[in-house]
Amino acid sequence: MARLIIDTDPGVDDAIAIAIAALSPGSDLLGVTTVFGNVGLAKTTRNALRLLELCGRADVPVAAGADRPLVHPHARRDSSAHGDDGLSGHAEVLPEPARDVVAGGAVALLASLLERADQPVTIAPIGPLTNIALLLAAYPHLKPKIERLVVMGGAIEGGNVSARAEFNIWSDPEAARRVLVADDVPCVLVPLDLTHRCAVDRAWLEDLAGCGRIGEALHALTPEYVRHYTAALGVPGMVVHDAVAIVEAITPGTLTTESMPLDIECSFGPSRGAVIADRRRLARAGDGASGPADVAVDTDIDQLRALLLDGLRERK
Ligand code: BDR
Ligand code: CA
Repeated sequence: MARLIIDTDPGVDDAIAIAIAALSPGSDLLGVTTVFGNVGLAKTTRNALRLLELCGRADVPVAAGADRPLVHPHARRDSSAHGDDGLSGHAEVLPEPARDVVAGGAVALLASLLERADQPVTIAPIGPLTNIALLLAAYPHLKPKIERLVVMGGAIEGGNVSARAEFNIWSDPEAARRVLVADDVPCVLVPLDLTHRCAVDRAWLEDLAGCGRIGEALHALTPEYVRHYTAALGVPGMVVHDAVAIVEAITPGTLTTESMPLDIECSFGPSRGAVIADRRRLARAGDGASGPADVAVDTDIDQLRALLLDGLRERK
């Protein structure tokens, strides 16, 4: 059973990821922390509370974290893919939360969940890495309590927010550098290169709607997101980036990984926020300058798409 904390900025694909973690019998979801990203913090936090309410998981504590990057604030959020409310303009399809966040904030909740854990915990950051950078800086003694980070972010080739950078890493490159390069917590990075290959089509979306009450509600969040990705991909469908990472967090080994030394571009040129993965043989053998991460490079794609739906099927 995977003990799991999700750090998230919901987000349509975050919504699917949270629902999978909340419903899967293989996951023990200990907490959800929120961060700015697709939209501002007040909206991502409300969306996280609504999603857990939908899934009947008001027992999972939620705490709000950073509403801006660590060092260099910027105004860019991702309403072009996720709408002004973060859920394609359909947040009100989800139930009103009957509770509020826990006091103290995201970093305090992450620390207290780790402190209380009797076995190491997987943290799945599926938004900008600001909260996780703060956690590692403020509570270094808790690192042994982290089994691994399963991070959705980065791109080895290309990007989405710019020609070189992926949105989560670009949103706070200094935080990403702190987590992925300057620290030594075991990490699986799930980049765009793989999440795009796992894109789902209209038939998958129909199956999602048929998964029961929760699948139907999630499906209702997707039309504008699908429109965005249909234009981006050139074929009808959408990319469920964060859900791909969550499946790996729940079932380690679902994704095939390769160890690569990483660095993050933190300058203000056209490559700001890019992940620099060193794929030279000698660098991989340990001569690289920066910390290695396990980069997800492959999976059984049809099986993964089926696993995503399995995680969402309502159980009697
Ligand atoms: C990532 O950015 C967000 O738009 C998605 O939720 C995902 O976490 C993909 O680049
Ligand atoms: Ca996200």
